[in-house]
Amino acid sequence: IKFKKFEKIVIIACGTAYNAGLVGKYAIEKWGQIPVDVELASEYRYREPSLDKKTLVIPISQSGETMDTLMALRYAKSKGATIFSVCNTNGSTIGRESDAVLYTHAGPEIAVASTKAFATQLIAMYLIGLEIGRQLEHLSSKKCKEIIKELTQLPAKVEQVLETVEPLRELTRKFKSADSILFLGRHTGYPTVLEGALKLKELAYMHAEGFAGGELKHGPIALIDNGTPVVAIMPTKDSVLAGKMASNIQEVKARGAVVIAISEDEFAGADHLIRIPQVDPLLQPVLAVVPLQVIAYEMAVARGNDVDQPRNLAKSVTVE
Ligand code: G6P
Repeated sequence: IKFKKFEKIVIIACGTAYNAGLVGKYAIEKWGQIPVDVELASEYRYREPSLDKKTLVIPISQSGETMDTLMALRYAKSKGATIFSVCNTNGSTIGRESDAVLYTHAGPEIAVASTKAFATQLIAMYLIGLEIGRQLEHLSSKKCKEIIKELTQLPAKVEQVLETVEPLRELTRKFKSADSILFLGRHTGYPTVLEGALKLKELAYMHAEGFAGGELKHGPIALIDNGTPVVAIMPTKDSVLAGKMASNIQEVKARGAVVIAISEDEFAGADHLIRIPQVDPLLQPVLAVVPLQVIAYEMAVARGNDVDQPRNLAKSVTVE
């Protein structure tokens, strides 16, 4: 695909794939300097959005069969947009109806709640961002190489996270009767907490919400009560956002929250600290989502739920 001919990119997806798309926006806009919208397929298809042949549409779908995503794709195609999809299932309808497909090769995903597919969707978005950055000459080949090197180190770092989550499992069980769990993040930590909250709803059947740290004082802080569990992702320490998240943590703690921080660095401001390895801030979701998936898994088990087949959900949603 020659990315030079496009003026904007629209990512369309549902559920977890939508959250991966949000991370994709951060990466593509930073590395490629091209505007990216991320749209819920179910909203996009019904609101007659403006787009034309200068728009590149990227549907993201694990199954490649999600009805809303497929219908949004068909709408975009009818307006002359180029369709470049990110799918996990070879030969799926979304793949077949696209001009080009990037297959994520996560292998068949059996559990209803998407986990490994999410990780590969993130990587696909990074590869697209890097390629756009390279083609549009916004990304030096040195930076590009550095990121690619970091990408290749991710599997080992995910292993490292998994090796250290045992205390988190124990901690999670302590919150099994909480009314609600809140998640806070900034920058790529924001879509990551949306995914963490979605996982908890899907598997533990608990009320959970993810918020951008900056939005805390615009409403969500009113939810904080004595003992409310809050999971916060700390931005990397060299970013200005680390201080801002530290203040958010102080604000919720002052109102009684019990804070679990996920952080690359030593951080004394939370009640519990989960360390993850250092990585480029745009790649952090790949590592930071793992403890969130563990929380959802452990909570589901503690509450006696079927982790693979949660109630009321289907793996592939081929109806509206
Ligand atoms: C269902 C699944 C989710 C998934 C969403 C989108 O709701 O339970 O895990 O994220 O569909 O599915 P897709 O196959 O399009 O990625």
